[in-house]
Amino acid sequence: MILDWKKLAQKIYDELKIKIEKLNKKPTLVAILVGNNPASLTYIKQKRKFAEYVWMNFELIHYEGNIEEEIVLAKIEELNNNSNISWYIVQLPLSEHIDSQKIIDRIDPKKDVDGFTKENIGKLFLKEENWLLSCTPKWIKRLLDEYNINLKWKNVTIIGKSNIVGKPLSLLFINHSATVTVCDIFTQDISEHTLKSDIVISAAWVPHLIKENMIKKWTILIDVGYNIVDGKMVGDIDFPNLEKDNYITPVPGWVWPLTVAMLIENTYLAHIQVWNE
Ligand code: GUN
Repeated sequence: MILDWKKLAQKIYDELKIKIEKLNKKPTLVAILVGNNPASLTYIKQKRKFAEYVWMNFELIHYEGNIEEEIVLAKIEELNNNSNISWYIVQLPLSEHIDSQKIIDRIDPKKDVDGFTKENIGKLFLKEENWLLSCTPKWIKRLLDEYNINLKWKNVTIIGKSNIVGKPLSLLFINHSATVTVCDIFTQDISEHTLKSDIVISAAWVPHLIKENMIKKWTILIDVGYNIVDGKMVGDIDFPNLEKDNYITPVPGWVWPLTVAMLIENTYLAHIQVWNE
């Protein structure tokens, strides 16, 4: 059975559109993009498309890949001080010569609609109320909520320990009382963990990593992988054989519509906090 993330994304957009239409002051989302990474270009295109769909303003600041770090930092300073431009993101990955963490550290946490700053991650860690939760973990939880899947009593395996997906997702799930195992390339035998799991989330970006013999029947499988094999997009989960006895989000199709929906929702939530409309 497919977990219908497309339907959920559309529902979120349509609800936001109605709310934003009523606002006197429309939120403006700004994206900083460095270089021309193909996945980043696709993301940015989608961010613009859906921001505009819900009547938000969207502005792109696009730098060449060889831009100096100081120029990006100066732009961040400018955005932090501009009370009209309320919300912005820095699309990752940045060019190798730029220190991503240094850039993220300069983002004003109140404007950090990606939820990447230390303050917003700290709020997640401490389970404080936080509108600015990073977008991929947020949609995964939202998708499970949509299907009334409670995390209590559940064994969960997360594959991948990135700052964007694996680490914040593990915290979020721990906060909702799941029993969480996090695996990476140094895990001896991933299947030892996945076979005991009710929910498996793969964000390893390794094509066809999860096979039928690595999971039990009726596992909930969420594929955050994005791999190009022979010019075609494939996920981390070996999808065709697994669909019939499991709950799954499929790649190809990719799941970025929900990541983008969460970004737009974060922008709306942050906006109404400040403008109180
Ligand atoms: N690169 C991959 N996913 C994301 C995301 O959610 N936000 C940003 N800023 N960059 C990304």
